[in-house]
Amino acid sequence: MLDAESLRTGLRTKLFGKKIYSFETIDSTNTCGRAVAACGAPEGTIVIAEEQTEGKGRQGRSWVANPGENLMFSVLLRPGLPTDQLNLFPFYAAVAVSQGVERETSLRVECKWPNDLLLGGRKFAGILLQGSVDGSSIEYLVLGIGINVNQSVFPPELDGKATSLLIEGGRRIDRMRLLRTILQSLEDHYAQISRSGLDPLLSEWKERTPMLNKPVSVLREGETITGIMKGVTRQGGMVLAVNGTEQILHAGDVTILRT
Ligand code: BTN
Repeated sequence: MLDAESLRTGLRTKLFGKKIYSFETIDSTNTCGRAVAACGAPEGTIVIAEEQTEGKGRQGRSWVANPGENLMFSVLLRPGLPTDQLNLFPFYAAVAVSQGVERETSLRVECKWPNDLLLGGRKFAGILLQGSVDGSSIEYLVLGIGINVNQSVFPPELDGKATSLLIEGGRRIDRMRLLRTILQSLEDHYAQISRSGLDPLLSEWKERTPMLNKPVSVLREGETITGIMKGVTRQGGMVLAVNGTEQILHAGDVTILRT
């Protein structure tokens, strides 16, 4: 069981996890994270749950994961940065979670725009950023992270698309230990943001993506756009070269096309 008391034991972070809310079942750790943020909860507050009844994914989708086998948690941050930096935070989380996972496994994690983590081309983790802005600066942001850890079976509609650390690595992972390592990685990289901003993390994300300079198709509002991915803007948009013209996309589902 991922309870706050056990998580705190062995957690060496200073900021992340200063306040921990843990639940057996909750609607969504992000919904809870936003509610406590609005009531003034401190930066570094963490919400974890064994089970979500209304887990949220990007673009209004749901996030469904077996209870007791996975990691579902949200982290509250108050970076005090301008709002135009908001959409870079999923890249920070993607890099920090990737490194945490690699530290605890022998797996190599790849990143897919905008905020999926892949193993062997299949998604095993997703990040949902929700935030509140106050004029021109970020009031708070809640980073929701869902990781398929020890789940071995997925619904048929996710065949070939979803995977887990157990499936890829062939062994069960201690979720508590993994969570502590990821929180440490998130904290270390968060300190790096105060020192050098988000650009170095964006560069690191680019090194982890199999998409750069590759043909991709993006499904956006019922329309499919095909082009070559050229990069990511400093606001987190994807730069796509379509017939020689560059377009910037801010949302969509990407498929990496085989060359
Ligand atoms: C995505 O890939 O679409 C993002 C998935 C994010 C899921 C996590 S699980 C913990 C947190 N609480 C939620 O309701 N969603 C995020």
